[in-house]
Amino acid sequence: ESVNHLHRTGFHFQPPKHWINDPNGPVYYKGFYHLFYQYNPQGAVWGNIVWAHSVSKDLVNWEALEPAIYPSKWFDIGGTWSGSITIVPGKGPVILYTSLNQNKTQMQSYAIPQDPSDPYLRKWIKPDDNPIAVPDWTMNGSEFRDPTTAWFSKDGHWRTLVGSVRKHRGIAYIYRSRDFKHWVKAKHPVHSKERTGMWECPDFFPVSLTDFNNGLDLDYVGPNTKHVLKVSLDLTRYEYYTLGKYDSKKDRYVPDGDSPDGWDGLRFDYGNFYASKTFFDYKKNRRILWGWANESDTVDDDRLKGWAGLQVIPRTVLLDSSKKQLVFWPIEEIESLRSNYVRMNNHDIKMGQRLEVKGITPAKADVEVTFYVGSLEKAETFDPSFTFKPFDLCKLKGSNVTGGVGPFGLITLATPDLEEYTPVFFRVFKDTSTHKPKVLMCSDARPSTLKQDQGPSPKEKMYKPSFAGFVDVDLSDGRISLRSLIDHSVVENFGALGKTVITSRVYPVKAVKENAHLYVFNNGTQTVNVESLNAWSMDSPSQMNDGGL
Ligand code: FRU
Repeated sequence: ESVNHLHRTGFHFQPPKHWINDPNGPVYYKGFYHLFYQYNPQGAVWGNIVWAHSVSKDLVNWEALEPAIYPSKWFDIGGTWSGSITIVPGKGPVILYTSLNQNKTQMQSYAIPQDPSDPYLRKWIKPDDNPIAVPDWTMNGSEFRDPTTAWFSKDGHWRTLVGSVRKHRGIAYIYRSRDFKHWVKAKHPVHSKERTGMWECPDFFPVSLTDFNNGLDLDYVGPNTKHVLKVSLDLTRYEYYTLGKYDSKKDRYVPDGDSPDGWDGLRFDYGNFYASKTFFDYKKNRRILWGWANESDTVDDDRLKGWAGLQVIPRTVLLDSSKKQLVFWPIEEIESLRSNYVRMNNHDIKMGQRLEVKGITPAKADVEVTFYVGSLEKAETFDPSFTFKPFDLCKLKGSNVTGGVGPFGLITLATPDLEEYTPVFFRVFKDTSTHKPKVLMCSDARPSTLKQDQGPSPKEKMYKPSFAGFVDVDLSDGRISLRSLIDHSVVENFGALGKTVITSRVYPVKAVKENAHLYVFNNGTQTVNVESLNAWSMDSPSQMNDGGL
């Protein structure tokens, strides 16, 4: 089988070919970062899923190993689906995963390394006392999966969460164990929410309310913490999270009153991003997020090009100092790939102007820009009675719809005549009720490609949404920043130092490799100033994916 390299990434995590989905069991152990992931060894569409396995010393350069687990026992012959790793003192790392039997009933099972002293953790054993959790009659045996990393509490129990659904109510069950072998379901789920559908890939972790620089391990207990519960909604293929309080005695999680719980909740990433999972990095005391950037190409073309899906650049996760949301930032290690460097300073961009960023490889780049917007007098008004969701607002007011303050931002993966382009931009409104600025951030994939849909059904269509989210900044110093990681068919965008993150997967036809261009632009009547712009070409790590630029 041949693999088409045109849109493969240069510095993102991708296997050499075939389908990938969820990141599984990320962990730091004996000097290596491990990443397992859902992988089809036989083709570029979902199926035949195994836990593929790679290791890295720096989260940048990866070495591929043999798949760690694959269907082989009665309890997992129907599938080895997503799960996590817990380091259990005295035992070493233990995998918890969803195993499907012959009848496709979903259960939870565990696997242990044959040799816990092997830093590569090459061989895994599935003990015969599996499975460790099966659905009882009150539960849904085809919607019961994705166990989280377990944490140990003072009461002598390990606990893990498993995602599920009942009558459209999304559920995170909680299981307890003393020995990591016998698990008992708690009487009540740790949390559930009506009308949200199946909760896939739950993630549950504490964040510090006093230290905004370091992550916390799962078993951390202290007065100044909050918890984060993230779920992946199967119905919409969106994730959302809440911030809240975990009561370890009652084993209940209660979201904060101002943390929206449901479809319109906060998101780790407002774009092509799903089935994410965090882990605590013992080496650098940080919590790191992995996530699957799913496809936007048609299924037929995934087959033709021989690959589908990739993992985003790992991101550190911290509580924002507002304590109302998280912030995300690409791990610092990725900066080791920066090469050619260009900059721009104190440059006014008037309405309708577009300035090219030259001297780097625009299809494989890291760009940081800080805009000074000055007065907000000209900002359009934001009527709070607007029922617009950010997505609809971005759809209505795209990058070339003239505004007051904005749209301004970057135009990535563009042809010079803008036949194709993926704009990433801000638009500032004045909220008539709060008198504060309301900042919209968009990564609009609609103009990204000339490629036509192949037919009317979803899998024949290109997925090109006007991804958007609001950015919670007051612009009191007149500034807003944007960082974009551009890599052939993926653009990861971090607004206001990671308050709002949007990933787009795009498939330009002409704006590829050396024919892609990068610009800063402004289509608002208010002049904006590029206070600073720093841009780098990105090198490829040792396992190169894109076949060179
Ligand atoms: C999420 C998911 C999980 C499941 C896995 C199967 O993308 O559907 O719920 O465990 O993928 O590959």
